[in-house]
Amino acid sequence: MAETLQLTSGDKATQYEALLPQLSALVAGEPDLIANMANLAAALRMQFNFFWVGFYLVQGNELVLGPFQGPVACTRIARGKGVCGTAWMRGKTLVVPDVDAFPGHIACSSLSRSEIVVPIYKQGEIIAVLDVDSDQPDHFDETDVTYLTQLSRLL
Ligand code: SME
Repeated sequence: MAETLQLTSGDKATQYEALLPQLSALVAGEPDLIANMANLAAALRMQFNFFWVGFYLVQGNELVLGPFQGPVACTRIARGKGVCGTAWMRGKTLVVPDVDAFPGHIACSSLSRSEIVVPIYKQGEIIAVLDVDSDQPDHFDETDVTYLTQLSRLL
């Protein structure tokens, strides 16, 4: 497994294109979900300097905080609550350009301005979500959806 990361400059798609094969190599051969989530969160933060990036894992009727990079965050989110719980309940990726305009948004940090949440499926079931927050409004678009979805399939 490759344990170093080659950081890339350029537009967003170029950065994701360079990052994804490296992430694939990073998790290859490692069966432990938490270890892989930890490295993926670190790699995303290193490449994009996201304000917050991490995972919440499904435990019963709640999401519980998993590996992440960034400021401390809320530990439990009920199904259907916040952006994370809503993405989980709907089984769909959510892009929130303005977190203040999302009813029920859970503000772990008042500095977060926009957010994307991608459900992570294993054998047809959602086992976790990937949550990325930006301190810039309207930060995430279809490019992020495409590549973060690909990333979620590495787990
Ligand atoms: N904003 C999220 C909560 C998690 S933090 O952003 C890390 C939400 O509304 O579900």
